[in-house]
Amino acid sequence: MSERDAQIAPTAHYTAYVWSRLKLPYAEHFATTRGRLIFWSARLAGEWVASVVPRLPSMTQYLELRHRTIERALLAHAPDVIVEIGAGLSRRGVTWASDEGVRYVEIDLPAMIAAKRAAIDALPPPIRKRLGDRLQLVSCDILADDFAHQLAKHLAGARRPAIVAEGVMGYFPEDERLRIARSIHSAFAAESSRTSIFLCDLRAREGGLGVALAAKLLKGGIRVLTRGRGAREDFANAAAIESFFSAAGYRTSAPVAPQLPHLAHLRAPMKVWQATL
Ligand SMILES: C[S@@+](CC[C@H](N)C(=O)[O-])C[C@H]1O[C@@H](n2cnc3c(N)ncnc32)[C@H](O)[C@@H]1O
Repeated sequence: MSERDAQIAPTAHYTAYVWSRLKLPYAEHFATTRGRLIFWSARLAGEWVASVVPRLPSMTQYLELRHRTIERALLAHAPDVIVEIGAGLSRRGVTWASDEGVRYVEIDLPAMIAAKRAAIDALPPPIRKRLGDRLQLVSCDILADDFAHQLAKHLAGARRPAIVAEGVMGYFPEDERLRIARSIHSAFAAESSRTSIFLCDLRAREGGLGVALAAKLLKGGIRVLTRGRGAREDFANAAAIESFFSAAGYRTSAPVAPQLPHLAHLRAPMKVWQATL
């Protein structure tokens, strides 16, 4: 793992701990001591500020909004294969592979894959049995030249594939985001007559002062979690995001409506986007 990527990994522990606090299915199996420590350190360091300002999402609400919106889009698509890139310690793979019977491939860097494998091996036997061989953990660099080729192999034969990048794209500069989005497009396009979706969360600098403040707090939090590396530049607006997907070859792109009444009042600087060929 490069020093740069190692800095992103703590946020995966943090998020996994948040998902366990939200009691999302199977999340308790991926919560780590490291995640708990980072969570409570961030709380003490000031993350609580957002939770007392009405309409500003706390980090927990932000992560819940992101995760549940992606779930909603996946359920609507009814995929036959899901590949999650930068999957970290997500509970989604186990959930889809064991409860929905969908083949699921998790891609991440070697150290994170080793941590994930240890967590999967420690799952109670009934869950491991339900998983069967549907969950695959793959160590792979999503910036590598042959990433599209590797990805195409995982999608072989799929009719309704979905690729998820949750909390990933924002850490890369725009040229690398474009490279990742193009690789995914070319893996989808390797077989015609399939209906493919690419889901990822992206931030834009629009929506007024409330959203700008939420973005500032969020990025400050990310900077602490990633020990100074922080998130990269946000897109200027929704039109810039549409141009980004178009430059990567996608025919359509649009934000997914969260439809989460308990979070609807929040002014989040992030949306989950769905792009199709
Ligand atoms: C911010 S974490 C997000 C993890 C998870 N998706 C979540 O929502 O908690 C980013 C993940 O991307 C992985 N990652 C970073 N650079 C990568 C690369 N070049 N190739 C593959 N995975 C990478 C990190 O190891 C980490 O698990």
